[in-house]
Amino acid sequence: MKINIRKEIAGLSDEIYYYRRHFHKYPELSFKEFKTAETISKYLKDFGIKHKKNVGKTGVVGEIYFGPGPTIALRADMDALPMQEKGSLDYKSRNDGVMHACGHDGHMAILLGVAKSLSKNNRIKKGTVKFIFQPAEEGGGGARYMIEDGCLNGVDEIYGLHLWNYQKYGEVGLKTGAVMASADIFEIEILGKGGHGAAPQGTVDAIVVASHLINILQTVVSRNTDPLENTVLTIGKIKGGENFNVISDNVIMHGTTRAYSEKNRQMIKKRMEEIIEGISNSFNAIIKIKYKEGYPPTVNHDLPVQNVLLAAKDIVGDQAKSPYLSMGGEDFSYYLQKIPGCFFFVGSAPEKNDILSTPHHCSHFDIDERSLLVGASVYLNLIENSFK
Ligand code: NI
Repeated sequence: MKINIRKEIAGLSDEIYYYRRHFHKYPELSFKEFKTAETISKYLKDFGIKHKKNVGKTGVVGEIYFGPGPTIALRADMDALPMQEKGSLDYKSRNDGVMHACGHDGHMAILLGVAKSLSKNNRIKKGTVKFIFQPAEEGGGGARYMIEDGCLNGVDEIYGLHLWNYQKYGEVGLKTGAVMASADIFEIEILGKGGHGAAPQGTVDAIVVASHLINILQTVVSRNTDPLENTVLTIGKIKGGENFNVISDNVIMHGTTRAYSEKNRQMIKKRMEEIIEGISNSFNAIIKIKYKEGYPPTVNHDLPVQNVLLAAKDIVGDQAKSPYLSMGGEDFSYYLQKIPGCFFFVGSAPEKNDILSTPHHCSHFDIDERSLLVGASVYLNLIENSFK
């Protein structure tokens, strides 16, 4: 299938690649995107686009007014991850221990490319486009700070994309309904009663309690979840015990839960509390849980999905299709709780590698840069179609 990159975008390809490589070289962590914001601001100024800085702490919001009509927002996240880049790219991270390993550098490059293209567009006569550069997607919930600072005021629809190494270059993944999971975290503390390892009578062994608890918690996924739906409950960290011959009086576990619907998310939380109460009674242990809700599920709205589908078909034809889904979380969900919109995926797997060999958040993460042109072309179509 031939991929029809919009000629306005193809003409900006060198710049778009340059933006991405620049951001890649100088990654910054959540809410510390100071230089990144400066760079974005400088470019928007060059394009003649009015914009506000320090929105949602380190975010930037630009705006082009074409005429009376709807307002559409496009969002790019700005932050990198606390990890060391490996590999030998010549635009490898210059900031030790910080890396754009998720593709947010590319998201910003796409949005700048679209902004530049639209700043010169004199065919559009109505509507307003907002360019939302948002900090702290990687756990900081930057979207909430942007919303609190009014970035959605007057906005009718919002769109966001993720470069997606689980799909090939030339594919655009989209669907109605949930596309990313809720991502909650919890800490469980088991308080038992210690003693001599050779004299368990009269003790409450926190390690034995923990082993039962872990097993039964797994039934939330295997027995309480509708098998046609998806949930995850992971305990990723466990700490307890002092010595081989000492019965432990304390175990702490940390984990995360994932769900595609608010219904399942609440079900998991409730079942965890019930199971903890049951195990606590069975073993006469005190078990405390601190459950913290993170990002909600990312749930697309029907009409905006149709708009992206129409925009994407012109670019990639029948390669606009169902996405490769994951149980990852995404704070774009907060925008979609407020106004209609669509979050979609742009295939970016490096050509030379198999899909899955350069996953997101790995230390040798890289993309097929041509995917930036696909993303920008879809956005450009989307805006032109919306303002016809
Ligand atoms: Ni990401």
